[in-house]
Amino acid sequence: MPPRRAGAFAPGRVNLIGEHTDYNCGLALPFAIAAGVTVHAEASGQERIRARAADLDEEDEFPLAEPSPAQGWRAFVRGTVAELARAGFPLLGARVEITGDVPQGAGLSSSAALEVALCLALAELCSSGAPGTKRLERIDIARLCARVEHDWVGAQTGLLDQLASLCGQLDTALLIDFRTLQIDPVPLRLGGWRLVVLDSGERHAHASSGYNQRRAECAQACALLGVQSLRQATAEQAALLPAPLNARAGHVIAENERVRATVAALRADDLPAVGQLLNACHASLRDRYQVSTPTVEAAVERLLAAGAVGARLVGGGFGGSVLGLFAPGVAPPTGAHEVRPGPGARLLDG
Ligand code: GLA
Repeated sequence: MPPRRAGAFAPGRVNLIGEHTDYNCGLALPFAIAAGVTVHAEASGQERIRARAADLDEEDEFPLAEPSPAQGWRAFVRGTVAELARAGFPLLGARVEITGDVPQGAGLSSSAALEVALCLALAELCSSGAPGTKRLERIDIARLCARVEHDWVGAQTGLLDQLASLCGQLDTALLIDFRTLQIDPVPLRLGGWRLVVLDSGERHAHASSGYNQRRAECAQACALLGVQSLRQATAEQAALLPAPLNARAGHVIAENERVRATVAALRADDLPAVGQLLNACHASLRDRYQVSTPTVEAAVERLLAAGAVGARLVGGGFGGSVLGLFAPGVAPPTGAHEVRPGPGARLLDG
């Protein structure tokens, strides 16, 4: 007998470094944060899903069989239900309640937190307890959520956000190699140093920003270079590409090296060096990948003016939050929130 109720929490994420590398089979170093999305689902005995986004005070209702497309948060719910059904889950009609404290479109992966929490809760509702029922590995959940982004939301995102949300660990960043999907924990020993995020106030949606275009440019660069992914290309080869592909590929190749250098600096407890790498990452995202905006630049300037040793936009860009690293005793500006690596997504009691 399946449980009548299931609940799950999935966190947002901050990516310390390694931006726009995930869909290029590269490296990134994210961590899960404390803020996230909670989903409670209760079987209703009807062939429908009734969902409520409590923070927005909005509802949605649709048939379990063949949900039709929708916009905003509804696209995530309908997409997750449809993709779970495609993956062979015998879904139950349910009432679904969603709450969260990750600001939407602020670069902290509210989308991944929503997809992952929905996926965990709905899969649990229909399968756990019953012997021989289907279980999803974390990587399968990440892939299923990515299909929701691609096919229901229209954003051709990679697996960075979902893997960070699913695999987060306390006081630890995750070195993810997107070529092999191997994840190595990297202890984040900050001592008295602080990582903070500051919301630029500019909202983004990857489906309508330049995100998909950047991904297409990387694919074009690969086609011209005759490689399957930019992981196989060198900086020298990238430099020969026509503009702007040379700059896009150049960013990705150098960014992988910055991720390696950041891991080395963290292992050596050299936080000033991490700050320099964050600055170099931001300059590359602004000038070569061209995903910054005047509003994001103003937020980075505020962090640097307050004394951050490093500051950069975080996530896909075109708005969202900026990340800053502060030495002990240096006060971040008003409005900045400290972030620390926390545990990954988990099931809750009912
Ligand atoms: C967004 C996407 C991720 C990743 C980052 C950029 O957060 O969802 O897959 O591409 O942008 O690093």
